[in-house]
Amino acid sequence: MNTDQFLVKSDLKFIDKTSYTWQTPSNIALVKYWGKSNPQIPKNASISFTLNNCHTITTIEFERKLTKDRRVIFDLFFEGKEKEEFKPKIAEFFKRIQEYCPYIFDYKMTINSENSFPHSSGIASSASGLSAIARCLLSLESKIISGLSEEYINKKASFLARLGSGSASRSIEGPLVVWGKHPEIEGSSDLFGVQFPYQVHPIFENYQDAILLVDKGEKQVSSTVGHNLMHNHPYAEIRFVQANENLGKMSKILQEGNLKEFINLVESEALTLHAMMLTSNPYFILMKPNTLEIINKIWEYRKEQNSNICFTLDAGANVHVLYPFKEKENVNQFIENELSKFCQKNHYICDAVGFGAKMI
Ligand code: DP6
Repeated sequence: MNTDQFLVKSDLKFIDKTSYTWQTPSNIALVKYWGKSNPQIPKNASISFTLNNCHTITTIEFERKLTKDRRVIFDLFFEGKEKEEFKPKIAEFFKRIQEYCPYIFDYKMTINSENSFPHSSGIASSASGLSAIARCLLSLESKIISGLSEEYINKKASFLARLGSGSASRSIEGPLVVWGKHPEIEGSSDLFGVQFPYQVHPIFENYQDAILLVDKGEKQVSSTVGHNLMHNHPYAEIRFVQANENLGKMSKILQEGNLKEFINLVESEALTLHAMMLTSNPYFILMKPNTLEIINKIWEYRKEQNSNICFTLDAGANVHVLYPFKEKENVNQFIENELSKFCQKNHYICDAVGFGAKMI
């Protein structure tokens, strides 16, 4: 794998002080990433919708260090408050990327971050959080190195974000991003996410995603632990083959616009992800009774109303309800009347497909 392309080979310009702010989105996988090897290489390719409203806004202030040493110095603030407990994850991220971003030794960094979604909503913030830091670093890089192309900047931002959290590699661009080498997706790579390279059927434009917040608590099992349980998992190898096959099928569905097939594949992927959790050892269950209540209600509604609503899940109890834009009014009413009661404090977030990172 050609990671050399991400090493810094030119001389760096000298800057005393600068700061960048980026807004980067969360994403929801249609074909799931679950299982990886070192360093953050996925066991199968995955594809996600980039979201629009769920995002992180991060500012990094870079101030040239007076001493020349190989220590990464940073302060971290989340929603205005210093967050010591988030620091180890970010320190580990900097360690993983230092080879590719040697300039992080030259600056003291002050990181200020906030999410558009409530902190303890159970929505994974690692994808948007780490892609935002990666994007700020690339802004600095393109300031101290001349001539970097937009394409390279996005690629490297996704490459760095991946080293922080796999799914973060899919949170730089939009509306559909593939991460993981796949024979049917031109330009795809295990190292970074790429925009889905084919014409997408108009039915998927402005696709809606309502996130039903069933459980806002801390997850009992982190994604990282879950991924690790795919080593020695009895069904792992067949799952990785299946996921890659599903990605091929999804590619065709996205181009042709067959919603019945879309629904079948998306829901099957969600349940298979959770089946992997149920069948790992130690086994665990992230769904809650209300997750199942919502799924059953969605199935009923779909049948009765001849709707194209469907659900997907990430590594938690919350349910992502997906539906075409043209059904927005009816489905939103259904969610408010029939599903919101299964959410903590009736809380849900209406989102839709978005287009990726924005500089602020
Ligand atoms: C279930 O990207 O959170 O959401 O690479 O360990 O940070 P790490 O894991 P993470 O895993 C996400 C898994 C998932 C499926 C997906 O987004 O594809």
